[in-house]
Amino acid sequence: MLSHKKPPNIIEIQDVRYSRGKRAIFDGLNMNFPRGAVSAVMGPSGTGKTTLLNLITGQLVPDDGAVLFDGKVVCPCSRHGLYNTRRQIGVLFQDGALLTDLNVFENVAFPLREHTRLPEQLIRQIVLMRLNSVGLRAAWQRMPSELSGGMARRVGLARALVMDPKLIIYDEPFTGLDPIAVGVILRLIRQTNDVLGITSIVVTHDVAEAEMLADLIFLISEGKVVASGSPLDMQQKASSMVRQFMQGLADGPVPFHYPGTSYADQLQTMSRT
Ligand SMILES: Nc1ncnc2c1ncn2[C@@H]1O[C@H](COP(=O)(O)OP(=O)(O)O)[C@@H](O)[C@H]1O
Ligand SMILES: [Mg+2]
Repeated sequence: MLSHKKPPNIIEIQDVRYSRGKRAIFDGLNMNFPRGAVSAVMGPSGTGKTTLLNLITGQLVPDDGAVLFDGKVVCPCSRHGLYNTRRQIGVLFQDGALLTDLNVFENVAFPLREHTRLPEQLIRQIVLMRLNSVGLRAAWQRMPSELSGGMARRVGLARALVMDPKLIIYDEPFTGLDPIAVGVILRLIRQTNDVLGITSIVVTHDVAEAEMLADLIFLISEGKVVASGSPLDMQQKASSMVRQFMQGLADGPVPFHYPGTSYADQLQTMSRT
């Protein structure tokens, strides 16, 4: 029998170009996400992190280049192919994206009811198991409006896991959470990855959290990967752009001042009008 060796990278981004209108968001983007690892994709707001997430799930199609999932091109492909890819990718959106008129249990059960014909008893077992793994089994009857930000994100994670994805992508999972909730989410992302033997991609602008969590960090800026490596590698990179971002410096190659005329010129010009 032929043995089907799995490609070492679960996702490969190959020379991807993508524009919105006239603006190039990605201009020859290359990234490999190794199977089993937690990778962080970092970059300033507006660099295209969420856009990258949508290219991986086939929500958006690259203008040029390719995105491979498990060795196969994500887009363009048949509707069936795309559906298959999406079933294997769990996404945790920033706001949890819970359905506000369904309780916690029903939110987590939702993908199973939509995509499978499993009997109710099995659905109950799977949902309770996933809620238990995020520490919220007892909160199954709560409505989304009754949850804290951190709890809503944990319910979102339980729902993202319910279809047994191979890959889970988190979009800004730490934003707006208090430090304790951040700690809980950090631990959950790592545990979920290692216990279930899946692969994780964390899209974030939070440097400290990415350094604590990730095996591999990519820094993107102006449509390209400007640096990548382990957290330690990233701290030791000499490039001033990387230092500015990783150390959170206000000024550097990414200037504090919006580009324009000099202060003196502006005062003169403005006093004439
Ligand atoms: N639906 C859209 N239509 C037009 N431009 C968009 C749309 N969504 C995002 N953009 C633009 O694409 C760029 C990248 O956005 P995004 O991927 O959301 O960045 P990030 O997640 O890194 O903050 C931004 O300049 C943003 O203004
Ligand atoms: Mg974003």
